[in-house]
Amino acid sequence: MNLLLYGPPGSGKGTQADFLSHRFGIPHVSTGDLFREEAKRGTPLGLEAKAYMDRGELIPDDVMIGVIRDRLAQPDTAHGFLLDGFPRTVPQAEALDNLLVEIRRGLDFLLYLHVDIEELVQRLTGRWVCPACARSYHLVNNPPHEDKLCDRDGMPLIHRDDDTEETARRRSEVYYSRTYPILGFYRDRGLVVEIDGHGSIAEVRERIRMGIAEAVSNHPENHPARKAAKA
Ligand code: AP5
Ligand code: ZN
Repeated sequence: MNLLLYGPPGSGKGTQADFLSHRFGIPHVSTGDLFREEAKRGTPLGLEAKAYMDRGELIPDDVMIGVIRDRLAQPDTAHGFLLDGFPRTVPQAEALDNLLVEIRRGLDFLLYLHVDIEELVQRLTGRWVCPACARSYHLVNNPPHEDKLCDRDGMPLIHRDDDTEETARRRSEVYYSRTYPILGFYRDRGLVVEIDGHGSIAEVRERIRMGIAEAVSNHPENHPARKAAKA
């Protein structure tokens, strides 16, 4: 399965990625996590990216495309990938198309998590994340078992620098002006599976499960996505 996980900032992409990655046995490739990791290590690439991220602006396309090219050359993506946060502009979508032709791969679906803007801001400003495993929590909607400690590894949770109300609103604006247009690009090819991202995390997960099952059943019998979903 080669999947794109798409939606505005805070729509639940990272939250739902774990289950999708396990379900299909494919790595979760989050561009935001890749750059946060680089920034933590203090590399020039990471520090340059952090300046854009903290302002809620997009990292330049040429930088992004190079990073994705390297990541999709890693052997763990040989049987599929779950790409979260890329592409985010029309030039990135075109570059991904060219890259997939080059490496002889195709896209199965783009999963679009749709959530209203006011809900997005509330989700982002209340989010706390684990710096070790990148798992997301929410102080009200999805709290950890112990106060501000990761359930998985016990690490103290942190608040992302770009999760202030001002930056969250800027990220939403950037999403609508630069990222939303790519939906048309994928809709024209019948690849978009639209999921209502409101409601509880479990409800959204169930909608994703049903959305994929329905999309897969519309694929030809021998399509790899259909076999993977049945397995
Ligand atoms: P990135 O890290 O990709 O951030 P994002 O797209 O803004 O997405 P988020 O991680 O903020 O949200 P999410 O959808 O994963 O939500 P989550 O599951 O955590 O990108 C950050 C920055 O990197 C960008 O601004 C840009 O600068 C740069 N960048 C990255 N890729 C780039 C690219 N391709 N080109 C250029 N620049 C790029 O959920 C959010 C919160 O809501 C959590 O607290 C969660 O617990 C809670 N929640 C989740 N689901 C529910 C639910 N159903 N009900 C209630 N609460 C919920
Ligand atoms: Zn953790």
